[in-house]
Amino acid sequence: MRWLPLYHALCFSLWKALAHTVELSNMFGQIQSPGYPDTYPSDSRVTWNITVPEGFRIKLYFMHFNLESSYLCEYDFVKVETEDQLLAIFCGSENTDTEHTPGQEMVLSPGSFMSITFQSDFSDEERFTGFDAHYMAVDVDECTEREDEELSCDHYCHNYIGGYYCSCRFGYILHTDNRTCRVECSDNLFTQRTGVITSPDFPSPYPKSSECFYAIRLEEGFMISLQFEDIFDIEDHPEVPCPYDYIKIIAGPKVLGPFCGEKSPEPINTQTHNVSIRFRSDNSGENRGWKLSYKATGKECPGLQPPAQGKIEPLQAKYFFKDQVLVSCDTGYKVLKDNVEMDTFQIECLKDGSWSNEIPICKIADCGAPAELEHGLVTFSTRNNLTTYKSEIRYSCQQPYYKMYNNITGIYTCSAQGVWMNEVLGRSQPTCLPGTPLSPLLQRLLFKALGPQEFWLLMEGEVEGMML
Ligand SMILES: *[C@@H]1O[C@H](CO)[C@@H](O)[C@H](O)[C@H]1NC(C)=O
Ligand SMILES: *[C@@H]1O[C@H](CO)[C@@H](O)[C@H](O)[C@H]1NC(C)=O
Ligand SMILES: *[C@@H]1O[C@H](CO)[C@@H](O)[C@H](O)[C@H]1NC(C)=O
Ligand SMILES: *[C@@H]1O[C@H](CO)[C@@H](O)[C@H](O)[C@H]1NC(C)=O
Ligand SMILES: *[C@@H]1O[C@H](CO)[C@@H](O)[C@H](O)[C@H]1NC(C)=O
Repeated sequence: MRWLPLYHALCFSLWKALAHTVELSNMFGQIQSPGYPDTYPSDSRVTWNITVPEGFRIKLYFMHFNLESSYLCEYDFVKVETEDQLLAIFCGSENTDTEHTPGQEMVLSPGSFMSITFQSDFSDEERFTGFDAHYMAVDVDECTEREDEELSCDHYCHNYIGGYYCSCRFGYILHTDNRTCRVECSDNLFTQRTGVITSPDFPSPYPKSSECFYAIRLEEGFMISLQFEDIFDIEDHPEVPCPYDYIKIIAGPKVLGPFCGEKSPEPINTQTHNVSIRFRSDNSGENRGWKLSYKATGKECPGLQPPAQGKIEPLQAKYFFKDQVLVSCDTGYKVLKDNVEMDTFQIECLKDGSWSNEIPICKIADCGAPAELEHGLVTFSTRNNLTTYKSEIRYSCQQPYYKMYNNITGIYTCSAQGVWMNEVLGRSQPTCLPGTPLSPLLQRLLFKALGPQEFWLLMEGEVEGMML
């Protein structure tokens, strides 16, 4: 039935000569085979290239379809394609195992371009009426239809006719790529001696397109050590080291990292008081991030011995830079530092690992020599005439003419504060007042001898005389 191959080739070039392309850019339109509704001519080839605006696709459907049938539509056909993809090829007037008619089927372009080619060969055994097709631009719901992960929105997607846009959850900022949601995380300062730092939202996946910066700034003398804990999950690449997301640690002049992947770095002893952490994420990937705890220690100071009759607080096995110790003494003792007595004394472990001062000694409180008493005298009750804490003295009045006023014992004890104290008078001295010089025995004898009247006259005179 088919003629010579040579003829075939000739015809092919003829088709080419007859072939023409129709450019269409309306939002809808009609396409018909040449001569429709009459029989289409042999050896014809027409291409309709339809272009609609970005954000639209093209829907094509047929109201009438009647072409010559051939094995795999070799001879007459309608072919629907994009720049690089065959969407459908139709021929015949009914579906067979090998040939396809459009029927009620619609052809949808993946993008905003569709090319439709009609071709007939040089001979048709019957009369075929061709086709009548319609197309229209339809909106692409980018929010639900985009399969390309790169193009859909990171958080929220909003479709509108002919396009879409993205927005972000509260607390996030839309990146200039208009697609991913980043966070502002470039200004984190840590000044405590211990702390925990994590990637944003940890352990939920960290935000995309973000540049985070964390600074640990401590006083000179501290050394910061870092330890990653828990999950470590940063997007990586099997061959290239950390091309997308990474964490870098800047410890003084040293830069550690970049680190990525699923294996966390070993604990890091930075040997510096100034550590910066940089964390970067690109615009894709769902990784959970990282968590690290840091701790700063200073140099160790030598161990401390509490002074005799004293204590240090807090009492620790080890002391480090910035630790402070308070020295105090037992009751009755005073801290003596540079010949100055005080209740407590504080020393501090310095950055070079030495103590700011030596431990002072505890000196027993001393009341000193007791003050002399007018018309009286003092005797020491404690051995060696001691005047220190808990020592005892006794004041008495010059006998027999003076008596201690107030009926007190005259006993004073050296207090913890270093002052002589009496039970009744406190720190005040007793007073010696003139009293009768006569002994009770003599008084009784005089009473008997003089009788009451004379006796009292005598006694009053005696007393008045002494007072004057
Ligand atoms: C029409 O589309 C086809 C398929 O993409 C292409 O090969 C051809 O160059 C286009 N024709 C014109 C005139 O743009
Ligand atoms: C993002 O959107 C703005 C305004 O809609 C536009 O000017 C800009 O070109 C867009 N940027 C990208 C990378 O698409
Ligand atoms: C800490 O390190 C950062 C970055 O290395 C540097 O810019 C900064 O001046 C340093 N600060 C101190 C107090 O050393
Ligand atoms: C104690 O003091 C008394 C006077 O108050 C004095 O006579 C005596 O020698 C002193 N004893 C000692 C051991 O110092
Ligand atoms: C003096 O004190 C002693 C003991 O404290 C007591 O027994 C005595 O009655 C007191 N004498 C007078 C006159 O208060």
